[in-house]
Amino acid sequence: MEAVKELYRPSLEQSRGLPAEAYLSDAVFDAETRQLFYKSWLCIGAVHDVPEDGDIKPLTYAGIPLLIVRDRNSEVRVFHNVCPHRGATLTDKPENCRGNIVCPYHAWAFDLQGKSVRMPHVGGAGVHSYEGIDKDRVALSEVRSAHWYGLLFINISGDAVAFADFIAPIQERIGALDPESIRYDKDLSVRMSFNANWKLVVENFVESYHVPGVHPELEKVNPMRDHFQILGGHSYIGQGGTAYAALEESEYAGLPERADLTEASYYEVFYIYPNLIFGPVANFCFVIIVDPQSPDTTNERIEFIFYGDEAMAGKHKQLRKNNADFLQLVNSQDINVCEKAQRGRRSPAYVGGMFALPQEATGLHFAKLLAAKMLETDDKKAEDLLPLPVENIYHPN
Ligand code: FES
Ligand SMILES: [Fe+2]
Repeated sequence: MEAVKELYRPSLEQSRGLPAEAYLSDAVFDAETRQLFYKSWLCIGAVHDVPEDGDIKPLTYAGIPLLIVRDRNSEVRVFHNVCPHRGATLTDKPENCRGNIVCPYHAWAFDLQGKSVRMPHVGGAGVHSYEGIDKDRVALSEVRSAHWYGLLFINISGDAVAFADFIAPIQERIGALDPESIRYDKDLSVRMSFNANWKLVVENFVESYHVPGVHPELEKVNPMRDHFQILGGHSYIGQGGTAYAALEESEYAGLPERADLTEASYYEVFYIYPNLIFGPVANFCFVIIVDPQSPDTTNERIEFIFYGDEAMAGKHKQLRKNNADFLQLVNSQDINVCEKAQRGRRSPAYVGGMFALPQEATGLHFAKLLAAKMLETDDKKAEDLLPLPVENIYHPN
């Protein structure tokens, strides 16, 4: 693990791009999973994944089997999906649990708050207690979790900063987007899987240099020349646009806009470290949950949020779909170039590339941020290794 971490040092100390190995190696992927993903707050889904009391939903994130549970008081919790007895996963499919969660192996039962309820025959046939195992001390292992705009976050290591502190910088940047106004259109939700390292998704997302070549349709409504970069700091990186013609005219216009809209928040989209893309633009918000599977395979889940009941009215169905389709067109174009960049990293001629800073200061900042997070120790935190302020907004023009 220590040798792997050293791969990141030239990015931090010499402003170099990450070496190809950082995108190809299993050892790097494992080190990132433990050092970056376990230790931070990860978005793993949405609170609406368990809409009814009693709903339970298994999923795997960062290789770990997890279970989202909505208890009978409507509280949403996340547990490790593992039985404390002999380690079987508790369930493999989402369901509404009328009683307890019952392990399929030896039928130990747990309530929806994770407490042990029954251990049948644990003391011998017909004997349901055993002095060697204290039922009151047996429970499902809960994962620290938090919600934000209907999204569900977890911290696997259990010792990340408080969620409120983690989210404060991006919340300040986003402004007063009203949580009560958030409406997910679940019918528009999509999932995909492709052959590129998760970091390429982020590097691509935070720059608009590629817009004219890769996204001709986007260039027409939101051209590269109107974009600016947002270096953000230690928890988010983004880009913004000073014009967004799609909102004024065309088949995308007409949805109710954010009530708190300011000129600054008109078009700003963000990568929130380590695995979330959040784009609360004027007339809708897109969410991309990045879910790395292996060095060269990444899953994405895309969700669409609209603002207020009016936006969800039947008469706006087509408009919502138009906006979602456009985002998906752009995203599929991005995936296409990410896969090319992944294949290119197999070439021995690629040694980290270079950044065109007037267009890609964000990409370099991302490499530095990851390097600082990979190299941090108890004594020297990422914030010490990568001191702020970075120049916050870089206008290319
Ligand atoms: S492994 Fe779950 S009851 Fe034995
Ligand atoms: Fe793009």
